[in-house]
Amino acid sequence: MKKQLIALVFALVPSVVMAAATGVPLESANIDLRDKASLQDGARTFVNYCMGCHSTQYQRYERVADDLGIPDELMMENLVFSDSAAIGEHMKIGMRPEDSKRWFGAAPPDLTNVTRVRGEDWVYTYLKTFYEDPSRPMGVNNQVFANVGMPNVLEELQGRQVIGCKAMPVEKDGKVQKDPLTGDTLMDERCDVLKVVEGTGIQSEEEFDTTVRNLTAFLAYSGDPIKLERHRIGTYVLLYLAFFFIFAYLLKREYWRDVH
Ligand code: HEC
Repeated sequence: MKKQLIALVFALVPSVVMAAATGVPLESANIDLRDKASLQDGARTFVNYCMGCHSTQYQRYERVADDLGIPDELMMENLVFSDSAAIGEHMKIGMRPEDSKRWFGAAPPDLTNVTRVRGEDWVYTYLKTFYEDPSRPMGVNNQVFANVGMPNVLEELQGRQVIGCKAMPVEKDGKVQKDPLTGDTLMDERCDVLKVVEGTGIQSEEEFDTTVRNLTAFLAYSGDPIKLERHRIGTYVLLYLAFFFIFAYLLKREYWRDVH
């Protein structure tokens, strides 16, 4: 009986894993947590575009300022919008969950740990794949989060994104196909892809990618602020152990000399 139960659990695992996947391939976020300028830019985007609805309430402003190398006065002036908030306070928001649930159908979750729950690539792709869908209450839908309640808050930067036709590289078995004679990538018009209506956004495609990458980096930092420090200390610990080993070994030789 017990064996059958275990077999059943294992048989179910793949279906659970597959249910979590949405079918849309995730783009690689490719973030660099050591890049302070990128994290600062991400923090700026976050407080300007996200903090109206989302908190990162397990994180304090002061900690962010220290870790990202932002002087406290600059932080207070440019990144803390609530008049009553002090630098040592948690990054909470004023919107009440009861209200936001009524307005959006779902309360915007706290984002301190979102990259740990969803993954960096998911968050990155999510922020890039909002598209116009008049059948939805907010007029937008999302490719990795179907029927999402969140409006497309970065639209002014990215521009209006719609599902339409665009020349795309031809792929076969996941590989991009090349013309055997010229070596050029084969292109083909597809009509089920996301494309930005030209001239509707403030940023170019590359600039928007960078904005979203930096924002994702900031969220990844929020979820694990000690990560960089941990890697740095880890190196010292290993060096110390290697160094200590020499003396431990010499001491052992000394103790055992008379025994052998
Ligand atoms: C106008 C309010 C609003 C703003 C501003 C906003 N969001 Fe959201 N967000 C929501 C709501 C509501 C949800 C929940 C959607 C749902 O469950 O259908 C959500 C969900 C999310 C999720 C999915 C969380 C999860 O794991 O389910 C992420 C990630 C997210 N938002 C990131 C952001 C980022 C980054 C910004 C800033 C660029 C931002 N949001 C700005 C309202 C907002």
